[in-house]
Order: sequence, then C-alpha cells, then structure tokens
Amino acid sequence: MRRSLIDILDLSTAELDEMIRVAEDIIAAPQRYSRVCEGKKLATLFFEPSTRTRLSFEAAMYELGGHVLSVAGANASSAAKGESVADTAKIVSCYADIIAMRHPLEGAALVAAQNADVPVINAGDGGHCHPTQTLADLLTIHREKGRFDRLVIGICGDLKYGRTVHSLIAAMLRYEGVRFVLISPEALRVPAYVTDALQEKGIEYRETVSLEEAVPELDVLYMTRIQRERFDAAALYERLKDSYILTPDKLRSAKSDMIILHPLPRVHEISVAVDADPRAAYFRQALNGKYMRMALILKLLGDRSEPEPLRALRTPQEIAARGLACRNPKCIGKVEQELAPAFVLAGGRYRCLYCESDAQDALSGGDAPKRKEQA
Ligand code: CP
Repeated sequence: MRRSLIDILDLSTAELDEMIRVAEDIIAAPQRYSRVCEGKKLATLFFEPSTRTRLSFEAAMYELGGHVLSVAGANASSAAKGESVADTAKIVSCYADIIAMRHPLEGAALVAAQNADVPVINAGDGGHCHPTQTLADLLTIHREKGRFDRLVIGICGDLKYGRTVHSLIAAMLRYEGVRFVLISPEALRVPAYVTDALQEKGIEYRETVSLEEAVPELDVLYMTRIQRERFDAAALYERLKDSYILTPDKLRSAKSDMIILHPLPRVHEISVAVDADPRAAYFRQALNGKYMRMALILKLLGDRSEPEPLRALRTPQEIAARGLACRNPKCIGKVEQELAPAFVLAGGRYRCLYCESDAQDALSGGDAPKRKEQA
C-alpha cells in the first residue's frame, strides 16, 4: 500500500507548507516542471460529475509531462456491471502510477486506497471529504491573505453535505486563533463529527442562519452551493435552494480586504454582479487548484514512505462491529457487502471508519452506547 490522500488530515502542517512552496515555484517557473512526470500515468476515475477537479488533475499531469487515463461517468467503466470499488482499484493499479477518484459513496476513496498498489487521491467521496479542494482553498488563502492564523472564516450554505466545508474546517483547525462562523439553514448544519472536532480542539465557532449578520466580522467568506444531488426529498431542496444569495448590496458591510471563496460550481448563491468585486477570489481559487494538484502528484509519486500518516487507515482504536451498524445509507460500508463494518472510537462515540457517521446499535437502531476513550 502506498501513501495516499484520503483526508486532509493525512497531510501534516509541514507538508502543506512544502506543497504551497512547490505550487508557488511551479507558478513562477512552470518550464522547470514540464518533464518531471515523463513516463508516468494518472488515472482519473470520476463516478460523479466534475469540471474543475477532473480537468485540473488532467491538466496538472499533462503540465508535468505525464499521461492521463480517464473514466468519466458512472456508466463508463465496469462499475456499471457491478464491479466493486476494491476490485476497480486493484485493476487500475495495473495500468496507472497514481489514481484520482471521485465517487458518490462516502468512504469509497479509503476503500480504493486500501486495495490499490499505487497512491489514491480522494477527489470527493459523496458528502464526506474533498481534500484536494482544500488544497486549492489553502493556496488561495495563502496568496490572498498571506497567513492562516487569526482568520475569521464564515462558511455559508450547505454545511451538512458540503464535503469541501468538512475538509476546509479540518484543515484550518491546526492554525492559531482561527474562528469560524457557520452560516446555514437549520436543516443543513455541519455534522456532529465536525463540531466535535472543533470542540475537542477548543476552536471558537458559532452557528447562525443569517449571512447579513455575519458578514462584517469575516476575513474569509466561503460560499457553497445547496446541492440538489444530495437531497432525498426534492421538496426540501426546493425550500432551501435559494437560502443565501450574495449580492453587491450584502457586501457593503464587509471588510475591504475580506476575500470571497467558493469551490464552484455556483448556481444562484453568488450573483454574477459580485464577480467584478476584487474581493471575489473564486476563479483564482479554481486556477490555484491545478497548481496544488501538480504539487500533490509530485509529492505522492515521490513519497515511498509507509502510509503511516494516513489518518483513516491508521486506526489503533479501530474496532470490529460487535453489534454496531453505520446509520448512513450513502456509506460504502453499507453498499459493498464484503466490507467488514469497522468503527473508531472518538470523543466517546463510535464512528464508522469509512464515512465518520455516528454508529447505531445494530439491533435496536438506536444510538450506540457511549464508551470511554481507550488509552
Ligand atoms: N469544486 C469542485 O469540486 O468542482 P467540480 O465538481 O467541477 O470538480
């Protein structure tokens, strides 16, 4: 098993700093990197739609002098015939040196990494994580604000299913004096595992439904789309879809040096009139994603260390099912039957190894019993 990127916590702060340095070097002197991946192949396996992530990965590999093998769409590979993620990863390892995978099931990239012989990059697993979007976010914050410490970060929109949100918060927890304002409808608040992490780290945060009330104190406003594809109930999506629309008028009370980020695509949540505002950094952010993906490909292809820092695979407290079940129907552990249910104990709660949802009692369907953390 090779070093992979499944969760942004798989990268140390020093590694993130080094990747930002490499990305800046690529921006300054791209010709120096134009042949460094000669003879290497990146496989992009995208089982969900994508414009930025897939194309920026492919552009990144071409600009490093490498080649790309691509599967775009759930029906374009043998997954459509029922092939498992585990088998797909084993097979693609025979043809490619590195894999970037997007999948609708939460935990799918972890299962791919457990089975591949080459590095696997999580390019988005359902509503769970999107660590390479966070790499784009971090380079943008670094370039626009010049620091990560002491920032007030407002995150607005779909915080429940927003995988970019979960990964960004996880990344920023490591920096001094960061404070979050989490702006969402009641129905789309961040999952418990995210607020638990904030509390465990002693990070100041508050939750609000009002964008207008939050804007004046923010250094970074991270807008997100209400994601139609994550809702089981169309009526709920229709009710919530236009909860937030950022307009020039709403920016009147914002700091003059606040930056506006968005992982994109946008629907209505940022009016096109905002694009002309110099604080609107979201198109620069999309470009930065390519440079950080170049830095990531270089890092993973060059890294021969044991995958010890891979947080989700390093599970000293991993425990077998023993009467527990994952409650998330979009978890890979629920769908790929041969996967043994596995849980980690964090903050006294059992969490699914694959998707981090709270476990439930398999028999009663109620909450799993609380347990003290093991030493
Ligand atoms: N931000 C992002 O993941 O965009 P795509 O869905 O277009 O890849």
